Amino acid sequence: MIEADNTLHTVTIAINGARKTAAVEPRRLLVHLIRDDLGLTGTHIGCDTSQCGACTVEIDGQAVKSCTVLAVMADGASITTIEGVAPKGGALHPIQAAFHEHHALQCGFCTPGMIMSVRQLLRDHPSPSESEIRHHLTGNICRCTGYHNIVRAVESLATEAHHD
Ligand code: FES
Ligand code: FES
Repeated sequence: MIEADNTLHTVTIAINGARKTAAVEPRRLLVHLIRDDLGLTGTHIGCDTSQCGACTVEIDGQAVKSCTVLAVMADGASITTIEGVAPKGGALHPIQAAFHEHHALQCGFCTPGMIMSVRQLLRDHPSPSESEIRHHLTGNICRCTGYHNIVRAVESLATEAHHD
């Protein structure tokens, strides 16, 4: 019989600029470390099949579904969550502001993951076409908006120079 490995491993990450250390079991998912151990609940869990994208964060500058990563795999990484994207002082990040302006959310459950995914898109393709936007967001499911206003919000950012 295969026995579960309950040995705790120390994981140290930089998250939204702050250094954090936690002791985790090898099977613990990064999304649970972020939400339950570090209390950053803006990163959501919307499925158990790695399909919804609500858990998307950035690991060393790349958008990743944090439910697909073991916490131990993130040891030493620099992670940004939705709590870390807006500038200090209460202003919205430009993508957040565009979502607000174009009514790109309803319940808002998918929005943190959408924002993190759009950041990746605009870094890779500063002026994406509508089809490129829709293709990029296939990994992020929204049950409310029908995606139309999300696409409009991203299109509004396409010619703006500053996305980070
Ligand atoms: S919770 Fe990670 S993809 Fe759905
Ligand atoms: S706004 Fe409700 S799931 Fe997207």
